[in-house]
Amino acid sequence: MPMTLVTADITRLALDAIVNAANPGLLGGGGVDGAIHRAAGPALLAACRALPEVSPGVRCPTGEARMTPGFGLPARFVIHTVGPVWHGGHAGEAELLGRCYRACIGLAIENKLHSIAFPAISCGVYGYPPDQAATVAIAALRDVLATHAKLDVQLCCFDDRMAAIWRRALNPA
Ligand code: APR
Repeated sequence: MPMTLVTADITRLALDAIVNAANPGLLGGGGVDGAIHRAAGPALLAACRALPEVSPGVRCPTGEARMTPGFGLPARFVIHTVGPVWHGGHAGEAELLGRCYRACIGLAIENKLHSIAFPAISCGVYGYPPDQAATVAIAALRDVLATHAKLDVQLCCFDDRMAAIWRRALNPA
């Protein structure tokens, strides 16, 4: 199945999993993280809090992923990942961002999920230039989809401006 681009509020998508662009503490925040926690309800925060800390205050290091139920969301599960903060592009950002996509897909496959939607990880508060993030994300996803062709992967952009950038990366002229 090819990747599809959707312009939507990710909290409305009734898929097996939606991905959350979280921070290492996994206790909520602004942007898509805040929207997901609001829509899922307080049980999501409790489930995140119950995830073990790997170091003080860190439940999910950058580039990794953790899964919880979706609670009040139409999606069955939330896969939380932590994208890199953009520091200009020479601090391993692309490698870390690629790892986020691969880690989320890895969890989806491990748990026999069939559909997953990603927001534009790191493209908000974390400042990653969206055109560069899209290129990294699409390359990482194409790689995995080469061996897991049945997975329904949706790239969820919140607005038309972001969708136009991701569309160009999906279908370069
Ligand atoms: N549905 C889909 N996409 C959304 C939604 C939504 N409801 N809300 C925001 N977005 C988009 C933003 O427009 C942006 O393109 O998600 C993208 C990622 O932006 P952020 O949510 O700011 O995520 P990120 O850049 O990875 O920063 C993570 O933000 O609030 C926090 O706790 C989070 O500290 C972490 C940081």
